[in-house]
Amino acid sequence: MSSTRTQVCIIGGGPSGLLLSQLLYKTGVDSIILERQTRDHVLSRIRAGVIEQGMCNLLEEAGVSTRMKKEGFKHNGTLLSYGQETFRIDFAKHTGTPVMVYGQTEVTRDLYEARENTDGKIEFQTENVILNKIESKNPFVTYQIAGQAKRIDCDFIAGCDGFHGVSRKSIPDSVRMEYEKIYPFGWLGLLSQTPPVDHELIYSNSDNGFALCSMRNENLSRYYLQCAATDKVKDWPDGAFWAELRSRIPQETADKLITGPSVEKSIAPLRSFVTEPMRWGTLFLCGDAAHIVPPTGAKGLNTAAADVHYLYNGLKQFYEERDQEGIDRYSERALSRVWKVQRFSWWFSMLMHHFPTDTPFERKMQIAELEFLRDNETAQKVMAQNYVGLPY
Ligand code: APR
Ligand code: PHB
Repeated sequence: MSSTRTQVCIIGGGPSGLLLSQLLYKTGVDSIILERQTRDHVLSRIRAGVIEQGMCNLLEEAGVSTRMKKEGFKHNGTLLSYGQETFRIDFAKHTGTPVMVYGQTEVTRDLYEARENTDGKIEFQTENVILNKIESKNPFVTYQIAGQAKRIDCDFIAGCDGFHGVSRKSIPDSVRMEYEKIYPFGWLGLLSQTPPVDHELIYSNSDNGFALCSMRNENLSRYYLQCAATDKVKDWPDGAFWAELRSRIPQETADKLITGPSVEKSIAPLRSFVTEPMRWGTLFLCGDAAHIVPPTGAKGLNTAAADVHYLYNGLKQFYEERDQEGIDRYSERALSRVWKVQRFSWWFSMLMHHFPTDTPFERKMQIAELEFLRDNETAQKVMAQNYVGLPY
């Protein structure tokens, strides 16, 4: 078995692992990323398209913001609609902070290029990754690659391997607490090379269910429909998708909709999920390895970025000052923000979707809350503060 040593072994080459590795590099801390898929496979995953200012700042700190600033679009508000009613949440007025509309897949691509341009060490197609001695001062990771057994000795392990990774399960069952809510529907997403229906996103709670009108650029639109959890993509030919979307947005918006052939169509389930603690010994969980949010508030990657911020600064403090305060308080600090984001994502999902168990009373409650949000500046300020991103 060949063995190597690094300071931080990162499990997972998605955006969390890549961003952490790039930030550590910028501060002189060595890391190795172990990724079970190929680079192309990781980049094939469809991701959301909204980046909080906090994550933009972190990408700037990592030296990975040039293309985002060139090709991304700053949005100073978003639209909400119900029935034929549409109103705007003004981020600039309530927070002074925009969000950046830029594909998170492009963020991942930019991070890969940055790591490759700085000789980042990434092992692809790793198999059977096992975290060893995570409660000792000498943890190590074993794995195979192309049939060769390998070992990495390290100071710390960052579990950035997503919801289906091995890191979370390396925390003892007797210690680990998991919280979960499964939503009884999915999101059917469609990508089309058509101009967006509006210059800002539209979240719609119609009598037929939820719809979202989003975008990637002036000729690439991203649309979502709430669908049954049992639906399959084959149940939704393009014509059916467009007809249903038209029925879920106000008529004046539907009249502007430009349709075209889908270049991608997929269905994603919705869940809220949190693991506690996010640290065990020398193992630190980051991103989807520790938590999942329904996509309603576009908080998945943005919450992962906040985790990376806390962990990167804690490791920086340790290596530069031999001060453990940052890493010792990582789980507490990360979870404090995680739970606030979970609440917002849950609240927005409950407000905007139809639930099979809804009675006419619940529907009336949704409309009453939407009308209050439409008419109340304080309610709009609270929504804007959560949507643009809570402070780190
Ligand atoms: N060994 C090595 N790599 C693994 C293993 C394993 N055992 N298990 C999973 N991985 C890899 C996956 O192949 C994936 O590339 O870990 C990576 C985890 O990446 P993501 O699932 O994208 O998680 P994360 O980086 O935390 O980003 C999460 O990005 O776009 C958003 O909304 C999305 O919330 C999500 C966020
Ligand atoms: C997207 O553009 O994919 C997107 C935007 C906002 C969301 C979810 C997804 O809340």
